[in-house]
Amino acid sequence: MIHIASRGATVAGEPFAYADVAPIFQKNCIICHSGDGPPRGLRLDTCENIRKGSDRGPVVAPGDPENSELVRRIKGISQPRMPFDGRRTSQMKSPVL
Ligand code: HEC
Repeated sequence: MIHIASRGATVAGEPFAYADVAPIFQKNCIICHSGDGPPRGLRLDTCENIRKGSDRGPVVAPGDPENSELVRRIKGISQPRMPFDGRRTSQMKSPVL
């Protein structure tokens, strides 16, 4: 079962609600970033886990998307770009990301 955090929660103070991006993560990211032993220790299945970040630390910088590793990976500023397997859907062109 996948737990989706309640509406209105924010990702470490990011200006978008977790509920807004949750469907994108559910569809494009948790196939890898969930369960035991996710890449870089990063799980994107709950707001809680996104806040925890990866083995390397936080992946979201509050109020600063350009310095958020998570956003940088999706935009391809940081490599390898996410989703790792290159499947990008129209959902990925969401206004928040
Ligand atoms: C096919 C599997 C796969 C999918 C799907 C995937 N990832 Fe990843 N992700 C990885 C792997 C493998 C790494 C480690 C790669 C590296 O940095 O060397 C990684 C690393 C990351 C990192 C870097 C963490 C850090 O601190 O270095 C972020 C952030 C990330 N992924 C976010 C996402 C997001 C957001 C999505 C969905 C849009 C996504 N990933 C989809 C496999 C995946």
